Amino acid sequence: MKEGLIETYVEPFVGGGAVYFYVNNSYAFDECHIYDINEELVLAYSVVKNDVEELIEILRDVETTYLSLEPEKKEKFFYETRNRYNELKRSIQWYKYDKTWIQRAADLIFLNRTCFNGLYRVNSKGEFNVPFGRYKNPKILHEEVLRSDSALLENTSIHPGDFSECAQHVDEYTFVYFDPPYRPLNKTSGFTSYSREGFDDDDQRRLADLFQRLDSKGARLMLSNSDPKNEDPADHFFEDLYSDYFIDRVPARRAINCDGGRRGEINELVITNYRTGITNLSMF
Ligand SMILES: C[S@@+](CC[C@H](N)C(=O)[O-])C[C@H]1O[C@@H](n2cnc3c(N)ncnc32)[C@H](O)[C@@H]1O
Repeated sequence: MKEGLIETYVEPFVGGGAVYFYVNNSYAFDECHIYDINEELVLAYSVVKNDVEELIEILRDVETTYLSLEPEKKEKFFYETRNRYNELKRSIQWYKYDKTWIQRAADLIFLNRTCFNGLYRVNSKGEFNVPFGRYKNPKILHEEVLRSDSALLENTSIHPGDFSECAQHVDEYTFVYFDPPYRPLNKTSGFTSYSREGFDDDDQRRLADLFQRLDSKGARLMLSNSDPKNEDPADHFFEDLYSDYFIDRVPARRAINCDGGRRGEINELVITNYRTGITNLSMF
């Protein structure tokens, strides 16, 4: 490998995209590949990439209508949108882009801006079930952010599916950042159900196997996870899985924790197959 030459960026658990958008904005990659098992996210990214102006128009109308309503009508509007969004789920063909996705992406963004704490959570049937958020004047349309995200997505292929499928895009000129659902720190704090599928220790092992496979292709790899040693210093789960690699512990703040008393600094893990030499990883 030519030292330092990275042509492709791959993020197999893209989620809200904070890292992807930052990294793709900061470096000139030939191509990027983002994956998520959550089809709704993949749908929304596809719409932002392909039809951003139509999406902006719908969100502009929704914002104007919603902000002009009385508080109890706002709540009614929220639940009507949530019901429609859940009912239409069954008719979506997830692997085939079509224009009906634009309205669905607008609904998802509206729900995200107006629901409780901006959470994304589904029930066992896969229905979005976060309640109304009671914000006075939520900003629903972020026009310039959507346009700049759309421009960034131009060099990016957006894939629905399991993280393991990303291997096909990885070679020695690739950087892969893995941000999987975190391993719960203890039995009660487990916040791993981003999707109906969940993510258990067997998935963590599957991921470690993939890490090893991509390492042998010569790619640069970085993975973040929770540090079990915060709770149990004798828990060597990640040391065992990633014994051939570099494990850094970095202080992090947990943004989502229903037990307010436990917010604050704890360590998280950053695992790489190269020496980082980075001491400030505060963006993670
Ligand atoms: C910790 S979040 C990623 C957060 C992201 N880096 C961000 O900035 O928002 C984990 C993501 O992994 C996705 N996920 C869960 N299981 C997966 C799987 N088997 N394959 C791919 N993605 C998966 C979830 O839907 C979720 O979006």
